[in-house]
Amino acid sequence: MNNGKKRRIAVVPGDGIGPEVIEQALRLLSKLRDDRGLTLEWERLDWPSTAWHQAHGRMMPEDGLKQLEQYDAILLGALGDPGPLRDPSRYVLPDSVSLSPLLEMRKGFDQWVCERPARQLEGARQYLADPRAADTDMLVIRENSEGEYVGQGGRLRQGQPGEIATQTEIFTRFGTERIIRYAFERARKRATERQQAGETRTFKQLDDSERESQVCIITKRNALRYWGDMYTEVFDEVAADYPDVGTTHELIDAACMKFVQAPWQFDVVVASNLQGDILTDLAAVISGGLGVAPSCNLNPDDRSRPSMFEPTHGSAPDIAGENKADPTAMLFTAARMLDWLGEEDSALAEAAWQLHEAVAADLAANGDQTRSTSAIGDAILERLK
Ligand code: NAI
Ligand code: MG
Repeated sequence: MNNGKKRRIAVVPGDGIGPEVIEQALRLLSKLRDDRGLTLEWERLDWPSTAWHQAHGRMMPEDGLKQLEQYDAILLGALGDPGPLRDPSRYVLPDSVSLSPLLEMRKGFDQWVCERPARQLEGARQYLADPRAADTDMLVIRENSEGEYVGQGGRLRQGQPGEIATQTEIFTRFGTERIIRYAFERARKRATERQQAGETRTFKQLDDSERESQVCIITKRNALRYWGDMYTEVFDEVAADYPDVGTTHELIDAACMKFVQAPWQFDVVVASNLQGDILTDLAAVISGGLGVAPSCNLNPDDRSRPSMFEPTHGSAPDIAGENKADPTAMLFTAARMLDWLGEEDSALAEAAWQLHEAVAADLAANGDQTRSTSAIGDAILERLK
């Protein structure tokens, strides 16, 4: 399956460790493309970035989104403080400015799903002492288009003692239903994949019956009742269409506790934009740290608009420029991008699998060593030979 169409990727190294980890991703993508004759090409953009802002007074060109829309996917390193932290005169922007292109892309291309898997990978650091933490395997799905991050509000009487700041949260039934339905679909797919691999997991329901997959919905409905109640109602309605998938609800604060106490009990977790953002950093640590945690921002409805693939971590200004960043998260992310593009091109899907396996095998064999960014890239390149 390949209609001969070239897939075009916009590569955005961004700030801080972004360019360092992107470089390793491009080395491996080049190798895969050359060996397998993949119909894949990319362009490296020097925007959005803090450096572009320094030169042009903005993070990206005025028609930046229009230019990005021409691509099939966006592969992004990180945006934010360019580091290194020990350079006090570096050009630093407020995070709200440097990260704004991310929000513009997510909203502009309606990338309404953010998917972050949290699996304790072999070789990755296990932060939790309980041996059962090794069985952690969950997928956190974050609503990515509305909620707390709509950016509506303002500041009145700024800087004065009587200042008022408002920040409006917006939750639509449409946005709520589509993300919850997506979570149930993913849960069902994960159960099928486990069956195919000869594995099963069981999730006990309140009535003592068991299911092979489960969706946990996160809210703070006891305090944020309006959207919390709507989420709960829509969740129940959608769940009725998936009798094979188990259900559970956690308040966000209790979920944080249970992520640490018993993360192996979760399967698919669906949360709002802000709550999912916070939970996924926690999930990233549980699965071995920010250095190994991939992420993606998807528009599953409209393939003509680019989805965006970026690691969970930020620009890590404390280690930027030192060849210390772990590129593993970026490389898993690149594999997820190939997998996404591979839904319409089986050669890309195979390359995705090969890259994912090479990164996972390297982690399993060498995860306990301290290695430079480029040394990890070298080792994985060797595995692709
Ligand atoms: P961060 O993820 O950049 O760093 C947190 C800690 O994890 C640091 O100690 C860092 O050294 C370490 N770390 C992160 N990635 C690593 C890697 N690949 N290998 C080894 N260690 C790694 O988060 P922080 O410090 O809160 O934010 C720094 C900047 O990044 C800020 O400007 C923030 O706004 C931005 N940011 C950007 C994101 C993005 O582009 N998607 C996401 C999160 C933060
Ligand atoms: Mg975050």
